[in-house]
Amino acid sequence: MKISIEDFCEDIVQKAMRGTAASPESVVERAEVAPASLDALLEGRGDEATVRAVAPCLGLSADKLADSLLDRWYPEPRELDGLFMTNTAYHDMFVNAYLIWDPSQHCGALFDTGSDASALIEKAQELGLDIPRIFLTHTHRDHIMDLDRVRKAFPKAEIHVGEREANALSVAAQRVRPGDTYSLGGLTVSARLTWGHSDGGITYVIDGLSSPVAIVGDAIFAGSMGGGMVSYDDALRTNREEILTLDEATILCPGHGPLTTVGEEKRHNPFF
Ligand SMILES: [Fe+2]
Repeated sequence: MKISIEDFCEDIVQKAMRGTAASPESVVERAEVAPASLDALLEGRGDEATVRAVAPCLGLSADKLADSLLDRWYPEPRELDGLFMTNTAYHDMFVNAYLIWDPSQHCGALFDTGSDASALIEKAQELGLDIPRIFLTHTHRDHIMDLDRVRKAFPKAEIHVGEREANALSVAAQRVRPGDTYSLGGLTVSARLTWGHSDGGITYVIDGLSSPVAIVGDAIFAGSMGGGMVSYDDALRTNREEILTLDEATILCPGHGPLTTVGEEKRHNPFF
């Protein structure tokens, strides 16, 4: 199944406008475009000239935003032994969750639950995995909706959530601080603070598989990023400092949309 890109050109422009508190009037004035052209862009009927004029006013890359408009990029398909992804429906959208395991030691962890964790649970059981830990990237409902079911399936697993995440959980959880590390069989999981979309979102970097992996939640998407609801500037900054500094081959596992890599995001993400 090919998962579609999470954000279209108009979504990216809207996120950047909200993030920089730019009104349509101010964008029209600074970009020197007709109001109707900006309206069309925001409604998904943009043209390339308008996109190229608007992008720099919002701190976006004109070339990368034009690629988004013209559908010129989709990340390379990725498969990795030790990584399993689910993509489950939540209202009119889809949300990802992940199972990561050490293929040599039958030990793994879940990262978020999505709206329905049954495929994650089945996969872990089919592989005969021990699941000592369940990591949460953040506490927005779509990502943790099936936590009770997961808790019942793996009653001994510890649940981990960023210490600054404000939303209460229905279950007891260990608080994760930036720099904390955990072992998972022969794998190492290390926590990085990528906040701005939520109060205390955590990116979990996993080393030990044939390629490094980062579970990023809604910090960054293939070709976009989660909305900067708490702080747009800090969402941009922590993505730059904590994710885009990882090895370029690192596979990024976002909360929505397809898998991507650090290298591909550096080359194709209009926000960076
Ligand atoms: Fe979120």
